[in-house]
This record gives sequence, C-alpha cells and structure tokens, in this order.
Amino acid sequence: MSSLHWPPTRLFLLAVATFLAGEHHTSAEVLTVSSPSSILKVSVTIDAERLTYQISRFGESVIDSSRLGLVLKEASYARNFKVLDSATREVDETWELPWGEEKNVRNRFNELRIELQEVSPSGKLLTLVFRVFDDGIGFRYEIPAQPGLASFEILDELTEFQFPADHEAWWIGAFLPDRYEYLYSNTPISAVDTVQTPVTLETKNGLCLSIHEAALIDYPSMALERKGLHGLKADLYPWSDGSKVKGKAPLKSPWRTIQIADTPAGLIDSQLILNLNEPCKIEDTSWIKPGKYVGVWWEMHLAQSTWESGAKHGANTKNVKRYIDFAAKHGLDGVLVEGWNVGWDGNWYDNGDRFRFAEPYPDFDIEELTRYGKEKNVRIIGHHETGGGILNYENQLTEAFQFAEDHNIRAVKSGYVGQGQCIRRIDEAGQPQLEWHHGQFMVRHYQKVTEEAARHHVALCVHESIKDTGLRRTYPNLMTRESARGQEYNAWAGEGSNPPDHLVTLPFTRMLSGPMDYTPGIFGLEFKEYRPNNRINATIVNQMALYVVLYSPLQMAADLPENYEKRLDLFQFIEDVPADWQDTRVLNASIGDYVTIARQDRHSEDWYLGSITDEQGRVLEAPLSFLSPGKKYTATIYRDGDMADWKTRPYDAVIEDKVVDSSTTLKIRLAPGGGQAIRFHAQ
Ligand code: NOJ
Repeated sequence: MSSLHWPPTRLFLLAVATFLAGEHHTSAEVLTVSSPSSILKVSVTIDAERLTYQISRFGESVIDSSRLGLVLKEASYARNFKVLDSATREVDETWELPWGEEKNVRNRFNELRIELQEVSPSGKLLTLVFRVFDDGIGFRYEIPAQPGLASFEILDELTEFQFPADHEAWWIGAFLPDRYEYLYSNTPISAVDTVQTPVTLETKNGLCLSIHEAALIDYPSMALERKGLHGLKADLYPWSDGSKVKGKAPLKSPWRTIQIADTPAGLIDSQLILNLNEPCKIEDTSWIKPGKYVGVWWEMHLAQSTWESGAKHGANTKNVKRYIDFAAKHGLDGVLVEGWNVGWDGNWYDNGDRFRFAEPYPDFDIEELTRYGKEKNVRIIGHHETGGGILNYENQLTEAFQFAEDHNIRAVKSGYVGQGQCIRRIDEAGQPQLEWHHGQFMVRHYQKVTEEAARHHVALCVHESIKDTGLRRTYPNLMTRESARGQEYNAWAGEGSNPPDHLVTLPFTRMLSGPMDYTPGIFGLEFKEYRPNNRINATIVNQMALYVVLYSPLQMAADLPENYEKRLDLFQFIEDVPADWQDTRVLNASIGDYVTIARQDRHSEDWYLGSITDEQGRVLEAPLSFLSPGKKYTATIYRDGDMADWKTRPYDAVIEDKVVDSSTTLKIRLAPGGGQAIRFHAQ
C-alpha cells in the first residue's frame, strides 16, 4: 500500500536569518527538515560564501556544517546563491522486492527540495533535494535544463562530511590496482587518506554511521578523501582527460547517503539505499529467479584444471556433466562454467580483446549440455570474462546475450579482470585511453550491459564490478556482484588467505551496499597438494553459516563436488538453505568481531540462522522471539565441535536436533574462527 501526502501535513521550519558580518551585509537562509519521528534534523544554509548542510540527532550534531556544491568547467556552483523556491513532502509507502533479504520494504521519509538561483547576470539554477529518514539521510544535486548549459563537465564535487570527532572507521583505500578487493583497515578517521564507500564509522558513544551513495547512474563513483582532521570530502573517479563528469542538463547526481543507527545491527537493518533508488523498470520479473549453483571454478583457482584449452581444460563436456549430475542430485539450480569460450589461451588478462562470447571451445558441446541440463532441470550459468576489453565486449553484447538466451542460460557471471586504470576507451581523436573501473565511462558500460541482459532475460552476477548502490531495485536482473575481497583469495593470495575478522567486517561494510557473490561453502579447508601456502582460515561450520550471513540471491556452493560428497551430513544445510528471504533479523552484532543473523524463508515458515566470529571464541545468546508464537520448530543445529578451532581442528563439527519455540533463548557457542548454522523447521 502506498500513500503519498501532498500538500504536507507536517510543519517544516523555514528560517531566514540575517547576519551582519563586518561592513558586509550577508543574508543567510536556513532551511530545515526533520525525519518522520523527529530523530534526525537537517539544516541547509545558503549564504553568499557557501552552501552547507548540518545534521543533528536528538539535538546532537552528527555532521557538523559541511560544504555542498559543484565546480563545472563552465561555471562554479558553490556560492552566491539565493533560494528561489522550496517545497516539502512526506512519503510513507511499502513496496515489494521481487527477491531479497526481505519482501516488504517500508519507505518513509520527509523531503525538502530547494531551488536555488545564482545571484549573477546568468542566474544559473541548481536544485538540492534532501530526503530524511529516521535511520539516515540522502541528498542529491540536480542541474535543471537552462539556457547556456546544454552540456558541461564537472571538475569537482565539493560535498563534505565533517564529523564532530575523530570516530573509529572501517575502510578500504580508493584508486588502488585491485579495485575493492582489499582487507578492511580499522583506524580513526584522521588516519584515512582516500577511501572507497561504503565507509563505516562508530562514535565513542556507539552511534554507527555509513557513508555511501545510491542510484549511481551515468556519473563516476564517489570515493572520499580526508578533509580537515576528521572530515571526508567527495573525490570522484576521473576520466582519463581529468574531468569527472561529462553531463547534459537536466542532470541528477546519485544520492549521497549517510546511514545512522544506535547499533551496528541498525546499519544492516536499514533499507535506505534501496529506498533511494527508482522503482522497478522491468515489467515482468517472473523469469528472474534466485537460486544456488555449483561451478567449474574452484578447480581452476586451485590449479587442478585450466581456463585455457589443452589437456587440463576444465570446461569440457564430460566434466560439466559431472557438475550437472551433482547439482541435479542435490537440488541446486545451476552450474557455472568458466573457460568455455575462445579467448583464454595465452595471457588473457592482458588480451581481453581476444574473447569471443558466442564461440565455445570445441570440447565444450553447448548444444548437448543445454539438452542435458534441461533433462536434469539444471541451468548452465554463463560466463563473460572481458579482461577489461570493453569495446570488444560491447561490440558483441547483443550476440553474447542472444547466445545465452538461445541456450537456456538465465544468468551470466561477468568479469573485468585488470588493474585499476586499465580499461581501454577510444577517444574522440581516435586514440586509446585508459579508464578506471569506477569512472563514468565504466558506470555507463555496466548499465548498458544490465539493460541488454534484461532484454534477453538474463540475470547478472558481476565480478570486478562497480560497487552496488541499490540499482537492483530498478533492475532486479542485476542480482549480485563481487566488489570486495572474496573467497578466491583463499586459494592463491600471495600475502595469505583472508583472516577470520574479514568475514565479520563484511556485513557492516561491503554488505551494506547490497548482495555479494562471496562464493561460500568451501569444505576442503586445506589444499596442500595444490596450494601449500594457502588455506581457509575458518572452521567448516563457519563456511556454512555464511549462507545466511552474507546474502546473495545467486548463492554458490563453491567447493568441488568430491569434497561435498565426503560431508553430505553437513552439505544438507546447503541443500536446504534458501537464497530468497521473507524477513531478516540481526540478533548479535559487533563490527569486526561477530554477527548473528536470522532470516525467514520466503516460501515456507522455516527460519535459518547464521552466526560467525573472528579469531576469538565466544558464547552469544540468540532469543528466538522471531518464531511464530505458539508454534514448535525442530532446530537442526550445525555447530563447532568442542575441540574445534580454525587453526588446529577446523573440521570438528556436531549436528544436533532440539525442539524450540519463540520463548527459547539459544546459547550459541562459537569456536575461534568458528560459526553456527541452524535450520528451524516448522512442525
Ligand atoms: C576473477 C573473478 O573474481 C573470478 O571469480 C573468476 O574466476 C576469474 N576472474 C576469471 O574470470
């Protein structure tokens, strides 16, 4: 049910104050808007020298006076504006996610729209829009159509986030070769140089903040540079020619977002990013199906087989059939096949232009595999590794997705391997230029692929993608992505595998932006024969709990079938756990330490729980008040054994059944680097 209230029934405060500054008579206009339950208040100040905003929560400053504005090549949009008009409105609506962590999303905010005009002969126009929710705010710039400004270049965005104190921050650096694939640092803001978003902050009093953006379309990604002792400023990924945005009026920037919660759990609960995106543009979404998959994948990362053709080629018909058989036997929906197409031979990551997206290697019989997959009710998941050869991929885009559609492929994993600034674009003078993965050129590319895939009824799982900004609301076929340091680093990272605290940091950082293809569920935690210097730094039950903790609508069972065959008792949980949820509750949360999440299956009354910890063993309490009152459930508990420890006894696991109801509180014992995974089956 949706209810828009216009004209507004609530009183908003518009204060126009006049200040006397020395001999200059400067008029400052201050407009304010509060959140629906009067938790947050935003004040926007327009004076001759600057545009600023400030945010308070229950009267205390959360963001001190911080600059707003844009610097265009053609003109500056930073000072000397007056308010032409302003309007407010209240929205309280509930909308449905076709798939996700919950079904119904409440979108409740108060909006303030300020139309500004420069006090100058040209009288340039700029609009600021603020949406204030109880758990955060979003704001954006709009450059309306106006005389003399048809197209333009933005050279800098002045947006700042000035914090009242030097909060603790969890961040990964920006402008680095491996994109978002880094371990998180945990330092005060003052130690930050340039960071990616989302960046997570916690104040001394335990207030939690996340700075990010929503609805990133045709604009560069926003990184943040430190400005002042403990402030951050927008630092947009540039084009190769140094400009940041190539724009046409009317232009709407992405939303700049600040999520604000009393607890770390509150950040995970927030749906602010999705709410700031446009409603779904795909009319019929019934073909977009969440599900689980296995893949001819980990064996390549362990170097058991190869992407390229030859004696060890992994994507051969016989091997793929083996995976299809395994998926069919265990009720999994798909089989990802990497290395199936021409282009992998030689140094593929420097020669992306050789990839063919509709031309299989001869030992991969796509017709036979399509037939076999249909017979077994298992779909092939396609793979488009571009190696950063964007023009080559764009030239084949329609053909590539037509090929997928013709072969019963409903999801494609894509990839953009290449370091930082590696994407070749041909500029207006016909010269090749290198572009960032996260600049406007690539944001446009990712968007183009999403729309082309949708036309062919194909869903996407994008690796080396641009960060998620909630676009799945508008394009639900853009299902999941990597955009973080995933499981594959555990196979080969020279600096060592991901430490246990990485997994308990992701839910409070990367996952706030949206689903992640972490590729969980490695049961063979050591692989000395293939990669003696790497291993999985977790217990086996920790890997199982990730299916609940790290949400992805396309969830991989990443290990080799033969490793699962050895532990079918534990694999039962992976068979049972859904990839689509009705509801989500965060039961325990401490950033970088531990997290417990419970989620309800969208298609039954069953609930699932996942809990994980860092290097430290702990006992957490999980009250089961989310279960239907008066109903009994069989809790199948997969827990770390009494001797389990990620370093010494990672395979020690126990399965036990208990009868529980909504009045039960479970004690969740987690071994060092451990976890717990529970299915609550309604009796
Ligand atoms: C990097 C991706 O993250 C990984 O999953 C994939 O196997 C390789 N690229 C090859 O495309």
